[in-house]
Amino acid sequence: MLVSAKDMLNKAKAGKYAVGQFNINNLEWTKAILLTAQELNSPVILGVSEGAGKYMCGYTTIVGMVNGMINELGITVPVALHLDHGSYEGAKKCIEAGFSSVMFDGSHYPIDENIAKTKELVATANELGISVEAEVGAIGGEEDGVVGNGEVADPNECKMIADLGVTMLAAGIGNIHGKYPANWAGLNFDVLAQISELTGDMPLVLHGGTGIPAEMIQKAISLGVSKINVNTECQLAFAEATRAYIEAGKDQQGKGFDPRKLLAPGFDAIKATVKEKMELFGSVGKA
Ligand code: 13P
Repeated sequence: MLVSAKDMLNKAKAGKYAVGQFNINNLEWTKAILLTAQELNSPVILGVSEGAGKYMCGYTTIVGMVNGMINELGITVPVALHLDHGSYEGAKKCIEAGFSSVMFDGSHYPIDENIAKTKELVATANELGISVEAEVGAIGGEEDGVVGNGEVADPNECKMIADLGVTMLAAGIGNIHGKYPANWAGLNFDVLAQISELTGDMPLVLHGGTGIPAEMIQKAISLGVSKINVNTECQLAFAEATRAYIEAGKDQQGKGFDPRKLLAPGFDAIKATVKEKMELFGSVGKA
């Protein structure tokens, strides 16, 4: 059964570790992530961007697929199905479709509008026991056509949004989606410490988990980050493994072009990436 991200994140915050959000794009990715979480006895959050939602044939299809897998694979660890960087309309659709968690990314609206829209979604989600992530300060880089400039959030604005009853708060602290450029300034820990101080027990979310050095991840967790999003690193691992398989000519052996064989190395690569991240984030054994 899908669960809200609330309990798992409150436990992570109190226990000083982070739960990974891994974005899904198809059946193989979803299965790889769920099986790894189960093997490592770790809670997990499956992230779905609006673009990936369209690709996978809509939110109700995804809810059906994930619920079916939890059942068929005997997954007993806590799993949250979460809309990543949702629009206001997208968040409403996911709530209706049966997601257990949504992010409303109102970071590009003026703060008053971000507050008004977040408030309305929180009221609807709370009634249904669905967790809500809000964002202050756009995350840099590009994800599914949503471009942010890598802002550093204003801690007082974070406090205002946190007070609306959201479950978790994503705050820009110089993090970027995708690969980090060579001249990246790193995470702004001073601002993270201020946000943490002002928002108290609120679980904080770090987007752009790909390519952040391990020491920075650990420091961020020590300063209150309890959810870390990873997408690009799984994509790169999947692509590299698939390319190696094709370049070795293995896709043309045996039965020919069996998609189950073609996608198997990528599936294993995602499992290995998710395992590495869960170990780094400290969520192993915390289900
Ligand atoms: P990366 O693609 O950099 O791992 O970021 C993922 C993310 O933050 C999804 O919201």
